[in-house]
Amino acid sequence: MKVLVTGGAGFIGSNFVRHLLSSNGDAEVVVIDRLTYAGRRDNLDGLPEDRLEFVEADICDRAAVANSLKGCSALINFAAESHVDRSVDSPEDFIRTDVTGTFVLLEACRDAGIRMVQISTDEVYGSIDEGTFTEQSHLDPSSPYSASKASGDLLVSAFHKTYGLEALIVRASNNYGTRQHPEKLIPLTILNALHGDPIPIYGDGKQVRNWLFVEDFCRAIETVLKTGLAGEVYNVGGPDEVENIEVVERILDLTGADRDLISFVADRPGHDVRYSLSSGKTEALGWKAEVSFSEGLERTVEWYRENRAWWEPVRSGEYREWYLKQYGVSLTED
Ligand code: NAD
Ligand code: DAU
Repeated sequence: MKVLVTGGAGFIGSNFVRHLLSSNGDAEVVVIDRLTYAGRRDNLDGLPEDRLEFVEADICDRAAVANSLKGCSALINFAAESHVDRSVDSPEDFIRTDVTGTFVLLEACRDAGIRMVQISTDEVYGSIDEGTFTEQSHLDPSSPYSASKASGDLLVSAFHKTYGLEALIVRASNNYGTRQHPEKLIPLTILNALHGDPIPIYGDGKQVRNWLFVEDFCRAIETVLKTGLAGEVYNVGGPDEVENIEVVERILDLTGADRDLISFVADRPGHDVRYSLSSGKTEALGWKAEVSFSEGLERTVEWYRENRAWWEPVRSGEYREWYLKQYGVSLTED
């Protein structure tokens, strides 16, 4: 098995490459990544060099994509602009990568005649007050990010229907775990708690997310890659639904930080109140989430405690400027 993984230097993509290479002794992976602020070559350090090729390129670069696809039997697309708040601030990059980039990959897979798995999000369904979203739920995105992902998904479905492309979509709930950029709630809270920085909670903090440990998600992607049916959508939700305020309080307890660090700030525009995904269709393929939120959160806090060398460069770089612009306060210097 040789697969092209786009966005493989980011959070979920790099976890997936690690998972695939360790659970399939004969697998080979080619990674294409543009290395934006969210991508890091060292996220792939320590992996077998004879089975991993890294190409620094943009998914909108048709020639680079076509060249990297040679000899591959599938493409899994993780490449995206992924942060909702940045999409509110400046949406253009989201349209370019998440929509045009997805289109370029679809064209390349059509030319090469290979399977494409599009990694998508529960956010395309919008917010749900009660019950859970299924694969039949209609698309109702709220942010420029989720609208760009929904647009990519619609192109994927259209390429299957029009050209018979062997394309599938996997929609996941909020992931957390190792190597997640600190712009996202869980790593932001862990690092701010470790530094004694205030922890910004949007609105009343009662929004609910359906947390999924990244290693569980990686196993789900492998299952869909190998056994999913072309043209289908597969939802992958986590085992627990937790309010943001509880997430933050649990991290403060795990790090021994003071609850006074909690700082309620202005709400995110278009903020979805609750996500909830039904994973029954993916479970029917033989997958099941194995890591509870309590266990996954403990493991995640531990990883950030032990991997200062990973996050120190992030906190001192572009992220500091983003943080000041977004929250109006500076992060403590390390
Ligand atoms: P991330 O921001 O950590 O990583 C994105 C990666 O894509 C980075 O390595 C970046 O350099 C790369 N990239 C961005 N633009 C590119 C371009 N034009 N060409 C090539 N590479 C480019 O994101 P993530 O959290 O790992 O998310 C991965 C995928 O999973 C995304 O498609 C996202 O929409 C989806 N998803 C994420 C979550 C979550 O909770 N993080 C949940 C559901 C779905
Ligand atoms: O649901 C899947 C999505 O999960 C993915 O598609 C996105 O790529 C990923 O970024 C994530 O989106 P969210 O917006 O849910 O994640 P984020 O970590 O930014 O926020 C989680 C919740 O915490 C959300 O309700 C907003 C809130 N929040 C976030 C930040 C960064 C705060 O209250 N304060 C903050 O500073």
